[in-house]
Amino acid sequence: MTLRSILIHPDPRLKQVAKPVADISDELRLLADDMLETMYDAPGIGLAAPQVGVLSRLLVMDCAKDEPAQPLIMFNPEVIARSDERNVYEEGCLSIPEQFAEVERPAEVTVRWIDRDGTEKTRDFTGIWATCVQHEIDHLDGRLFIDYLKPMKRDMITRKMVKLKREMARG
Ligand code: NI
Repeated sequence: MTLRSILIHPDPRLKQVAKPVADISDELRLLADDMLETMYDAPGIGLAAPQVGVLSRLLVMDCAKDEPAQPLIMFNPEVIARSDERNVYEEGCLSIPEQFAEVERPAEVTVRWIDRDGTEKTRDFTGIWATCVQHEIDHLDGRLFIDYLKPMKRDMITRKMVKLKREMARG
């Protein structure tokens, strides 16, 4: 497996709507495995394909902290039901390093997706899992967690990222 490099905001590829996956090729399975490795290495709890520059509807996640790993690979994930109850979590993003902000989302969601073997799955997610899966699906629609913040706060974070990228480019 190979670590993939993670795009840092602002990047036009992070703002695009990713395309549905028609069939799960070996190439896409390899990408999913690489994404999991990249996510664990970062370390993070979720990663969406656009974050590694691939505009396909694929995400990986694992919110099991100190428990045994529970990796999930989702092709074409869709939220098919959401609770009225809402939850606030402090979110971060591997494409927006070291920036965190509270985001309110439905507390519970039902998600349908295709797994690594091509099998359709449906599952309810709560707690951090619910927040994470919604955050990652947002990436597939070109939406970042900072898009939920007030413009002033969002612009401040974006300016910090522009500066960070400049520093990274200088090496
Ligand atoms: Ni993210």
